[in-house]
Amino acid sequence: MQLKELIEKRYSVRAYLSQPVETDKINYILECAQQSPSANNLQPWKFYIVTNENTIQKIQESYNREWFKTAPMHIVVCKDSSVSWKRNNTDGKDFGDVDASIAAEHICLAAAEIGLGTCWVCNFIPDILREALNIPDHLEPVAIFPIGYIDTEKSSWNEKKRKPLSDITEWI
Ligand SMILES: Cc1cc2nc3c(=O)[nH]c(=O)nc-3n(C[C@H](O)[C@H](O)[C@H](O)COP(=O)(O)O)c2cc1C
Repeated sequence: MQLKELIEKRYSVRAYLSQPVETDKINYILECAQQSPSANNLQPWKFYIVTNENTIQKIQESYNREWFKTAPMHIVVCKDSSVSWKRNNTDGKDFGDVDASIAAEHICLAAAEIGLGTCWVCNFIPDILREALNIPDHLEPVAIFPIGYIDTEKSSWNEKKRKPLSDITEWI
């Protein structure tokens, strides 16, 4: 599959089958995240893979949506500000969010490639998520990714509404 085709195939899936995701598929997704570029190759991330039913229920309390409850597993992407690269010579900007987001999108694309659905979820309550996973202070949860086989009766690909290139680009 061409990269553009894969990018177009991925969409935010908000209905999953209860069927568990095979461990080799989870590992494939994680290996794609592992290969992500990062500022100064500092790899300031940690991935929590949540397949345990009790912990899944606790995570659901951080993002109370009916569709979210259908996912059989989650990957929670955290940034590690204790190792992320800071632009020290000027404004001190922390690039940990950028790095973690690149890895996160690798997760989404890898899942789409192997026939699984995902959805970026950032509108969670951080304190509840932290407690559910016992996340230490030096890590910050960036996004939750519900992952699973798509319930195609309730969720289907729609043509993506995107701004035209002419609105979002400037050739100089
Ligand atoms: C940083 C980020 C945060 C998002 N947070 C949520 C969220 O909390 N809940 C949700 O349902 N979708 C969330 N989304 C999904 C977006 O709504 C979705 O990507 C966008 O509408 C485009 O649709 P598509 O992913 O199907 O192409 C988020 C996406 C991104 C990139």
